[in-house]
Amino acid sequence: MNEPASNAPPTAPTPATALLARQAALTLLQAALGRRGGLEEALSHGRYMALSPQDRGFARAVVMATLRRLGPIDRALDGKLKREPPAPTRDLLRLGLAQALWLDTPAFAAVDTTVSLAPKPLRGLVNAVLRGVLRDAAPDELPEFLAPSWLLARWRAAFGDIDALGIAAQIALEPATDLTQRDPTDDALAKTLEAEVLPGGSLRLIRRGDVAGWPGYDEGRWWVQDRAAAIPARLLQAKPGETVLDLCAAPGGKTLQLASAGATVTALDQSSGRLRRVAAGLARTGLSAETVTADAVAWTDGRLFDAVLLDAPCSATGTFRRHPDVLWNAKPGDIPSLVQLQSRLLAAAAKRVRPGGRMVYSVCSLEPEEGEAQARGFLSTNPDFTLEPLEPGEGGSPLVSLAPEGWLRILPHHADGGLDGFFIARFRRH
Ligand SMILES: C[S@@+](CC[C@H](N)C(=O)[O-])C[C@H]1O[C@@H](n2cnc3c(N)ncnc32)[C@H](O)[C@@H]1O
Repeated sequence: MNEPASNAPPTAPTPATALLARQAALTLLQAALGRRGGLEEALSHGRYMALSPQDRGFARAVVMATLRRLGPIDRALDGKLKREPPAPTRDLLRLGLAQALWLDTPAFAAVDTTVSLAPKPLRGLVNAVLRGVLRDAAPDELPEFLAPSWLLARWRAAFGDIDALGIAAQIALEPATDLTQRDPTDDALAKTLEAEVLPGGSLRLIRRGDVAGWPGYDEGRWWVQDRAAAIPARLLQAKPGETVLDLCAAPGGKTLQLASAGATVTALDQSSGRLRRVAAGLARTGLSAETVTADAVAWTDGRLFDAVLLDAPCSATGTFRRHPDVLWNAKPGDIPSLVQLQSRLLAAAAKRVRPGGRMVYSVCSLEPEEGEAQARGFLSTNPDFTLEPLEPGEGGSPLVSLAPEGWLRILPHHADGGLDGFFIARFRRH
């Protein structure tokens, strides 16, 4: 929740640490492309944390710029490489190009440091390829080159050409930082932070540096949360004194929203490590909730709740603005098993809703199997639930995101400056 702002300053490392910072960037890129969650883990690793804040900021900025243009970068490299060179040559070339083309690193410095990091027998090749690409016109950043082709094909099939390209165009853009306020009536905060107040009340900031140093952080007056991620909890309309179950709660942005609405919240997650982040968020904001470590499907507690939020695990393809690595780690084969897990979690969540109560289902995925198809499947097998259609603009949602069915299909280009992709539906139990 208090992840560093994505727009940390990419100040160049000092000459003494130039290679160290770039070696760190290489390690981060390899972790990012190695497996899902690899980048997040590498960013909290001791070796990375031991760097100076300046070198950390630089390494992270280089890697984010590389991941946001991985498609165009690889197209440019493929035009120069006769055959695939041994690892880590391609990753070094990717980082070198990103520095020279998008990070204001002088081309000679990007080339020299990249060559120095390459294994000796490959230095000539690295030098020639980098200089060759940099002599050409800058790589084409057309939306169709920014997304992995299999994902773009899925988005075309699901949303049509225009929207698919609209989504892809967001990949290269660096997002602002959005915050949710603990007290939505805290009008002074937007002014102090020089933030734009968005529909629904989220604050949007173009501010650099570590969020923990920003005004109001220590007093817990806000937490980092994308403006789209703040919508599901608002749609639950939790009221003071109501009981609310947040079934997949960690790291906890939505738990904090529900608790700040005055509800009596139970926050459950199967990961004790991630639940510690929920507890830390609660402690910092002075809010309270019961936290439970359990598998939601096997949880034996018999309580019923006024409202249940299921923000289910998913392919997370809607979060590529801050996590461009998701695009390159997602595999077509991941989706069916996630769909099965979501169905089981929906069934478990439904059992916890009292008659007359409501449930919100959300996923930060752009894939219709995890959204529309889940909602349809749930309604067809749970006759005691109906869809409760959402109002235009409800919860701060873009008008264009409201589907004729009454649920939200939020696409990343649906609002100026972008927002995360989400599917959100609200159900009522009779
Ligand atoms: C999309 S994240 C939830 C994000 C969270 N709602 C928030 O706003 O910060 C999904 C969460 O589901 C949890 N999870 C996955 N499978 C689960 C299960 N069977 N039971 C409980 N939690 C599960 C994961 O540990 C992960 O924290």
